[in-house]
Amino acid sequence: MSRYALAPGAVRPRRLRTTPALRRLVSEVRLHPADLVLPMFVKETLTEPVELQGMPGVFQHTLDSLVAAAEEAAEAGIGGIMLFGIPADRDAIGSQVDSPEGILNRAITACQEAVGDRLVVMADLCLDEFTDHGHCGVLTDTGAVDNDATLDRYAAMGIAQARAGAQVLGLSGMMDGQVAAVRDALDTAGFTDTVIMGYTAKYSSAFYGPFREAVESQLDGDRRTYQQDPANGREALHELDLDLAEGADIVMVKPGMPYLDVLAEVAAASPVPVWSYQISGEYAMVEFAARAGAIDRMPAILESLIGFKRAGADAILTYWATEVAQELAARKQ
Ligand code: PBG
Repeated sequence: MSRYALAPGAVRPRRLRTTPALRRLVSEVRLHPADLVLPMFVKETLTEPVELQGMPGVFQHTLDSLVAAAEEAAEAGIGGIMLFGIPADRDAIGSQVDSPEGILNRAITACQEAVGDRLVVMADLCLDEFTDHGHCGVLTDTGAVDNDATLDRYAAMGIAQARAGAQVLGLSGMMDGQVAAVRDALDTAGFTDTVIMGYTAKYSSAFYGPFREAVESQLDGDRRTYQQDPANGREALHELDLDLAEGADIVMVKPGMPYLDVLAEVAAASPVPVWSYQISGEYAMVEFAARAGAIDRMPAILESLIGFKRAGADAILTYWATEVAQELAARKQ
C-alpha cells in the first residue's frame, strides 16, 4: 500500500471524472449551437468569394455566396449571423451606411428574406468600414474623432438597418452616448422592437489585425481615443452602467480570450444578456498554431469556446460558429 494512501472518507474529486457519461452529466456549462453567432463579411465589388489570408476558412462574400453561407449556418442551427459590409465607395462620413442601396443594407434584406425565419439577422453598426479614413466616427477639422457628430450618423445608420430588416444592431463604435442616440432614433422612427446590442467593453486590441484585412481598413493610426485601454477592467463596469441606463438590450465584451476576467465581472453584474466576441486574431492564433502542428485544432476550438461560457457569456460571436454547430451535432450520434 502506498505510504500516502488517503484515509477512508477522504475527499476524491477525481470520482466525478471517471467516465465520459459522468463527466458529461456533471459539466457546469455546455456549448449549444443556439448560443453561437457567425460574423460574416460581404463585399460590394466581388464577383467570387475571396478567402482571407489572415483567416483561413473565412471569406469575403458576394451577396449570393453570403446568402448561401447564411443558409448553411441556419441549417447548422446557430443562433444568428452578424453582418459586416465592405462598400465600393468610401467617404469622410460613410455615406453608404444609410443608403438603402448600401451593400450592408442590401445584405441585411437578402439574409432576412432567406434565413430570418430560422436565425437572428444582425448588423454591425459602425462607420469604420465605410469611411475613407477608417475611423469609427466622423472627424473634426483637426482630424479628431467627433463623438457627438458621429451619433447623428449612427442614428441614421440604425434606422436604415432596421428598415432593411435587421433584428439586432451591434453598436461597436465606442462613442459615448451611442446606445441612447440609436434607441431614440429607432423609437422615433417606429422601430421600437429593434434590439440594441451595445459593445459595452471594447478594448483597443492588437488582436483585431486580421479583421482589418477582412474589411480592408483604411485606418492610419489607432482607435485609442475611443476604444478602451487594455489595462482598465473597472471601467467596463462603468460602461455597463451607462449602456444599461441608455437602454441596451444586450451587452458585449470584446475581445474574448484576453479579457475573460472582464467578461466574468460584467456577467456577474449585468441584468441583461452578456455576449462576447472571439475576434479575428483569436481565430487566427488557433488556425495557424494548428496548421503548424502545435495544437489539435477542434479540441482547442471547443476549449476556447467553453472558456467563454464558463466566464459567463450567454452567446459567443465566433468565426467557427457553423463548423462548431455541425461538430456538436455530429458528436451526439
Ligand atoms: C469595428 C469593429 C472591429 C471588429 C468588429 N467591429 C474592429 C476594430 O475595432 O478595429 C473586430 C472584429 C474582429 O477582429 O474579429 N467596427
